[in-house]
Amino acid sequence: MTDKIGYTRKGDVAVLRIKNPPVNALSHAVREGLVAGMAQAEADDGVKAVVIVGEGRAFIAGADITEFGKTPLEPFLPDVCKRIEDSPLIVVASMHGVSLGGGLEIALSAHYRVAQPSAKVGLPEVHLGLIPGAGATQRLPRLIGVDPSLDLITSGRQVKAAEAESLGIVDQVTEGDPEDVGVAYAENLIATNAPRRPVSEMAAPAPIDWDAAYDGTLKKGRGQISPAQAVRAVQAAAELPFDEGMLAERKIFMELMETDQRQGMIHAFFSERAVGNLPELKGVEPRALQSIGIIGGGTMGAGIATAALLAGFNVVLIEMKEDAAEAARGRIAGNLSGALKRGKITQMKYDAMTNTALEVSINYDSLASVDLVIEAVFEDMGVKKEVFGKLDAVCKPGAILASNTSYLDVDEIAASTSRPADVIGLHFFSPAHIMKLLEVVVAEKTAPDVVATGFALGKALNKISVRAGVCDGFIGNRILATYRTAADHMVLDGASPFQIDKALVDFGFAMGPFAVGDLAGLDIGWATRKRKAATRHPAERVPTYPDKICEAGNFGQKTGKGYYIYEAGSRGGVPNPEVSELIAAERAERDITPRDFTDAEIVRRYMAAMVNEAAKVVGEGIAKRPLDVDMVLLFGYGFPRYWGGPMKWADLQGLPALLADIESYAKEDAWFWEPAPLLKQLVAEGRNFDDLNKQAAK
Ligand code: 3HC
Ligand code: NAI
Repeated sequence: MTDKIGYTRKGDVAVLRIKNPPVNALSHAVREGLVAGMAQAEADDGVKAVVIVGEGRAFIAGADITEFGKTPLEPFLPDVCKRIEDSPLIVVASMHGVSLGGGLEIALSAHYRVAQPSAKVGLPEVHLGLIPGAGATQRLPRLIGVDPSLDLITSGRQVKAAEAESLGIVDQVTEGDPEDVGVAYAENLIATNAPRRPVSEMAAPAPIDWDAAYDGTLKKGRGQISPAQAVRAVQAAAELPFDEGMLAERKIFMELMETDQRQGMIHAFFSERAVGNLPELKGVEPRALQSIGIIGGGTMGAGIATAALLAGFNVVLIEMKEDAAEAARGRIAGNLSGALKRGKITQMKYDAMTNTALEVSINYDSLASVDLVIEAVFEDMGVKKEVFGKLDAVCKPGAILASNTSYLDVDEIAASTSRPADVIGLHFFSPAHIMKLLEVVVAEKTAPDVVATGFALGKALNKISVRAGVCDGFIGNRILATYRTAADHMVLDGASPFQIDKALVDFGFAMGPFAVGDLAGLDIGWATRKRKAATRHPAERVPTYPDKICEAGNFGQKTGKGYYIYEAGSRGGVPNPEVSELIAAERAERDITPRDFTDAEIVRRYMAAMVNEAAKVVGEGIAKRPLDVDMVLLFGYGFPRYWGGPMKWADLQGLPALLADIESYAKEDAWFWEPAPLLKQLVAEGRNFDDLNKQAAK
């Protein structure tokens, strides 16, 4: 037996203890150990039952994801499950922490399941582009029926022990040491002569309308294939004998294992965890954080205050005037009451957050003792410098001074204080209490422990924090500006905004760029265009029709009209015909003969622009690694998770072909499509973006 499985005897009961920290993933050694452990128990005189428990913080977190893509080694997980279920001994799984994916499948192969009240179970394989591949699609429907099984398998959601018990997944929920609870349960089974109870021998579940379920799931997945494929696997449970159903599940699982979506989603899983793993943070202690100051209680300030309150910080928010302060308080209360309604906080917590933990003031002196201040005032360098001057005067030594600026130069802001080492950019995304992304913008003089504190704050706020350097728009907004421009160019040349939006939604984006513009407010882009007009390169092609939409007072959803027309109360719109007229007029003025674009060409150009700019961002060191860009686009810009991010997408497409396309587009517009030096270098060296990620991890 391997050292990954401990074997002990408690009277008539053998205990198999899984010891594979941190989360008992089912690595090859664990699978081998489980098989050997079952054999040892069966050969051990007098043993009547086996209890499987996990050591440490979880029962089992599932298959070992690091083994995916490598040659699978026997014993395979479905066979381990069968070995457990076929045992002549009674097998009990005693679960604590999480039992996920293959972990739950091991438990479903046991004859009885007990769990701690705090335990959670789930089948998150769809989040990795897979379906359960060790029998859950066959056993779970037999145990709890088709509808709840499909809910769990296609959503990947985790359920707490109480819900698992009411669904019939868990037989008993008992608090205590998992091993003691499991052994007591097994002893009782032995004492009452309870039978073995293999789930595979239970009756096949009743069928449903499978095609309707498949179509509905496919649509909901917005292009993600694994949840819909899970429906077919569950269908096999209803229609085929158990062993044939298992083969059907295995076939789908192995096919999905070969897909780009599986690679993309696993890249996302590991990148999400690697993103905060930076050499500059190693061994650097963050500064202590208890109270947070926020300047400006508009959209962003109120959202950031909400996030900070929800995470347990004390917040002092400064506004300019009493009425603005009241409005800010109202916005925060509105956000928190949303959290209250969704059951995220109790009334008591709500009262404490709005009364005790939050102070709204118009007096900067109230900031004297805060540990960190986040400025979220108007996007204007003059205003920001004035604010930072005041912060410099009132904040205690060692307090961190942060700006939530979207584009402005954090070095210049820092230089307006006497303590540039304490200044950093903390760029949140709207709505700040909901969006997961935080760009931690490190300026030239920012001290390492200030950077570490930015990441610590992100963690406390449950954000995905990404390190960014200083440039116009940092990582996300800079790349956005480029791919938005590619879309604008395609409109000038013949595509409609509506076709572009649709092609990109079909690609997997939550929304197309023009619908996003309507949602954010077209006045924002208008203001940016005006701001940049003076410094624009002469070769830049900038359409003027969007200005005309704004000049007519149409700013998108908030005015009921933009690229789309919105019926009162509706978030979805219908194409605005006036936009098509404005575009046609501009093409005529510029002497452009519009041409047709296929959806494939739209996606290719949009993505090529995104990847090319992203490669410049990495090449210039604004993002440290390609995976940092991927996480920014995934968590801040609605990029489809199943592609892993734009850099992973590019790797999957192949960089040489992408560079060739960029070079061919450059023949039309050499300024806009100038290939990124890093992209050229990688192609010349036969490497890809993931090679850079791996190099950085060494
Ligand atoms: N395989 C390999 N490594 C895993 C893993 C797994 N299944 N689950 C977690 N890890 C690793 C993480 O990468 C991380 O490594 P690091 O410290 O080197 O970065 C470490 O374990 C700790 O993980 P987290 O930082 O995520 O710790 P948390 O406590 O926040 O979360 C968790 C724990 C809830 C278990 C979370 O890690 C998780 O969701 N894991 C994935 C679970 C999953 O998807 N299971 C299904 C696998 S597919 C499967 O089982 C197929 C089967 O049907 C055949
Ligand atoms: P907003 O206009 O909604 O709010 C700004 C608030 O700051 C107003 O309530 C105003 O009264 C207050 N304010 C202005 N000067 C002040 C001062 N000297 N002292 C105290 N309060 C002052 O603006 P919004 O959208 O919240 O943006 C704020 C900052 O966040 C900007 O820098 C913006 O670029 C950035 N940002 C905005 C995002 C968005 O989606 N709206 C996303 C990420 C960053």
